[in-house]
Amino acid sequence: MSDTAFTPRVFSGIQPSGGLTLGNYLGAIKRFVDWQEAGTHETIYCMVDLHAITAKFIDPATLRRNTRELCAGFIASGIDPEKSVLFNQSQVPEHTQLAWIFNCVARMGWMNRMTQWKDKSGKNAEAASLGLLAYPALMAADILIYHATHVPVGEDQKQHIELTRDIATKFNHDYGREFFPIAEPVIEGAATRVMNLQDGTKKMSKSDPSEKTRINMTDDADAIAKKIRKAKTDPDPLPETIEGLEGRPEARNLVNIWSGLTDQTPAQVVEANAGKLFGYFKQDLADIAVDKLGPIASEMARLMEDQSEIDRILGRGAERAREIAAPILDETYDIVGMVRS
Ligand code: AMP
Ligand code: TRP
Repeated sequence: MSDTAFTPRVFSGIQPSGGLTLGNYLGAIKRFVDWQEAGTHETIYCMVDLHAITAKFIDPATLRRNTRELCAGFIASGIDPEKSVLFNQSQVPEHTQLAWIFNCVARMGWMNRMTQWKDKSGKNAEAASLGLLAYPALMAADILIYHATHVPVGEDQKQHIELTRDIATKFNHDYGREFFPIAEPVIEGAATRVMNLQDGTKKMSKSDPSEKTRINMTDDADAIAKKIRKAKTDPDPLPETIEGLEGRPEARNLVNIWSGLTDQTPAQVVEANAGKLFGYFKQDLADIAVDKLGPIASEMARLMEDQSEIDRILGRGAERAREIAAPILDETYDIVGMVRS
């Protein structure tokens, strides 16, 4: 294996810790489809089930269901398991094997600085799982076990990708080999941070207790339209230019969602709707969202009817993933000094 020329390869993952949201779709999956269709890179997409058990207890049946539903969501959104490698993390043991090595490369100080760790462990870090602290090292292993060069993610994952780069750099330096690529985060588009529909300063999240704050990819037309119509806004109409959205996080968020769903820039969206009252804007946005998301939801439901087919796709994806991961793990063990016989 060459030390410097890396195959152009995209890797990204989503946790099956709950249902898919519009944030996951616009911030991640839609862009995964663009990479797949561009054909410039191999594309590898993973349901990170081992990450999903780091935060709070998930009932096993729910985890299994979420993983299959996430797979259906990927496919319904346009990920083609023939073109991309699509699988769940726990079926490829090389991820956790490399993660152990990275646990020994990463420093406690690095892990303690992660904002996601601080947010999720909250006031009682003593009660958080060791897995939650080690989470970013497993994430680095997810990426580097494929020597991935590009990682499309939402804004919230930037710090984790920086840590991945630090781990690769330290490993390469410690062992004196340019073995792991320094992967690039790809955070692009208007919708890299889709916000909560009731509070434009918080991210839209699958774990928020209130359903009104998010659009789920499984929501029906009525639910989508209702949530958008009830989304919080300020009393002013849409401004003439994009600058007029400053200090108006809820208004900005709805413009970004429109932009993400239609592939227009936020400036174009504002220009086309200048002076419109939000009541009307939300009505139009609801129609656009129902139009785009409705067919994905019904395709997901159709795919979920045949779970053995989903499991077959995941199994086949895992086999293909292992073909790439196994030789990289072997070489890593060799570099580290593990006896291989
Ligand atoms: P998660 O659901 O936390 O596993 O996130 C999976 C992917 O979706 C990651 O790339 C996240 O950055 C992205 N993502 C999650 N929530 C949002 C959001 N509200 N806006 C944009 N991207 C998001
Ligand atoms: N931590 C990511 C999230 O919550 C999910 C994830 C795990 C991931 N491993 C990854 C994303 C590797 C990109 C690459 O969103």
